[in-house]
Amino acid sequence: MDTLVMDKTIAQKINDLLGRMSLDQKIGQMTQTERLAITPKEVKEYHIGSVLSGGGSVPGDNQPADWIKMNDEYWAASMEEDEQHLAIPIIYGVDAIHGHNNVLGATIFPHNIGLGAANDPELIERIAKATAREILSTGVEWTFAPTLAVARNNHWGRTYESYAESPEIVQSYAGRFVKGLQNSLGRDSVVACVKHWVGDGGTSYGVDQGDTEISDDEMSEIHISPYYPALAEGVLTVMVSFNSWNGKKCHGNKYLLTEVLKEELEFEGFIISDWDGIDYIDEDYSETVARGINAGIDMFMVSEKWREFIAHAKNHVLSGRVSMERIDDAVKRILYVKLMYGLFDRPRPAERYWSKNPDFGTSHNRAIAREAVRKSLVLLKNENDILPLSKNARIIVAGKNADNRGYQCGGFTIAWQGITDDNESADSDNKGGPIIMDYNSSSAQIQKGSIVGGTSIWEGIKAVAPNATLNLNGTAADPNLHDVGIVVIGETPYAEGMGDIRDGDYQIEETSEKIEGFLKVLAPYGHSTVLNELHPEDLRTIQHITDKGIPAIVVLVSGRTLIIKKELELSSAFVAAWLPGSEGQGIADVLFGDYDFQGKLSFTWQKHRDENYIKGDSPYEPLFPYGYGLSYNG
Ligand code: GLC
Repeated sequence: MDTLVMDKTIAQKINDLLGRMSLDQKIGQMTQTERLAITPKEVKEYHIGSVLSGGGSVPGDNQPADWIKMNDEYWAASMEEDEQHLAIPIIYGVDAIHGHNNVLGATIFPHNIGLGAANDPELIERIAKATAREILSTGVEWTFAPTLAVARNNHWGRTYESYAESPEIVQSYAGRFVKGLQNSLGRDSVVACVKHWVGDGGTSYGVDQGDTEISDDEMSEIHISPYYPALAEGVLTVMVSFNSWNGKKCHGNKYLLTEVLKEELEFEGFIISDWDGIDYIDEDYSETVARGINAGIDMFMVSEKWREFIAHAKNHVLSGRVSMERIDDAVKRILYVKLMYGLFDRPRPAERYWSKNPDFGTSHNRAIAREAVRKSLVLLKNENDILPLSKNARIIVAGKNADNRGYQCGGFTIAWQGITDDNESADSDNKGGPIIMDYNSSSAQIQKGSIVGGTSIWEGIKAVAPNATLNLNGTAADPNLHDVGIVVIGETPYAEGMGDIRDGDYQIEETSEKIEGFLKVLAPYGHSTVLNELHPEDLRTIQHITDKGIPAIVVLVSGRTLIIKKELELSSAFVAAWLPGSEGQGIADVLFGDYDFQGKLSFTWQKHRDENYIKGDSPYEPLFPYGYGLSYNG
């Protein structure tokens, strides 16, 4: 059913193109492949509509010039018209979810959990605009952002990609972020993609890609409502979620994809699957292709087996299992997005304005990120107003997260799972190279890498406090030498299912029994939300300082709230810093009083491991409630 309402010119162009497209060309447009699985020659030969970089999939030396060169080659191939091929420009997609986070030297903004605490929609729009400029400086046109998840359980490994546990803040950000990215679809714009449709943050036990077992009303009020402002802002793409809703995979759910999103909400752009997302609907791949297309997915993110996808899709049309009307609906939507974005009129990537006048990792963009860091910090404790600190205080700075830009950036940074980037400081426990984390996870490894630009939290402190010294494990603490300790502790990077915390296999077993199709299970981050069980080294570091009678200011770097009873008791002050990104200096700005704390919790902070209070519950007896946060002048 042609529900697209668009201006006449675009409608005419779409119908003109459609009328000239073969079935192969139509199905090619519906196919997105990963860059490692396809050459520019094959993009032309198979009429591919889009290419993406999965997390950490980068060209050459991962400099903007390498990205521009790569995009230029794909674009040129897609535009080489001949008897077999119609010139339709490819669109290149990346996960620029907290800055253009795959690329060396990019400004890395705080992850969404910290931005939620800032509760500043105007800042969000500026972050989106800066991110768009950095994306455009690499010849890329499309980002799979913003995530509109409303994360309801901190066991979920993607909690940090969510702004809040309750929809209000997410609603207030959704339209502004899309507006900042799509920016009137002019020269400074990229195509946005809201995700993951729908209910990704509501799975039972927080199992990634699990089952969201909730009523229609809860789905609508909590998980769908943040999409309204994004749709009103004209977001051009929506990504389907891996999770199931009451046992049914979103990737095969015609009600959610077609009846709700396309018909009821009148979404005019196109729906893209998640990474091989249809593979989990059924073990028979041919069956999953048919069900995914008929459910209403328009473009398919097929990381490697794109030839198989194309063959099955074509056979289903020839056999009548998939109608030509459904194919035409998908292709019209894809062409609509490319035409609305002006992709046909933009020059080749290398010739575009931002390719030639890059605004990438600049001080202006980093200043916005540093402001976001400041505004994201939440002060949970400040005994005897020990904060703000004097810049002349004799400070020992300790903790594994103090001098590691990789840790402070978290997942989806340079590599899919993030990286470790310590400064090889003399006291560092980590002498570079992958680190085998021994916290009960199946030998999870963190890749060594580098964050170019920005400051570690330690570097930010050192820049303003001349009497600060770094000693990562804190054993050098001496009351004759040190007035106070700043102990920066917390999680190491993770992404998606590898960030899940699971205290038992029963959660996977229960979920697997309830859903149609099957569940992708990855090695979890850990088996407890209790910080000193996840990272016992952190409590030891604090004790090395407080045992000497030196007060400790604890700064927690984490992608979620955790059980912090022991660490909190030992601290004189406690700051939640979330995953601040490349501009660690923002933390020193507030610790020394140049700026006040403004952050308020957008997630309830639980007191005990077996509790999961959420704003609005009754009773509601957390350690710190939603909206909590101290300040100097509060
Ligand atoms: C991942 C994520 C999704 C991301 C996509 C492309 O599996 O679920 O958020 O945009 O694949 O990397």
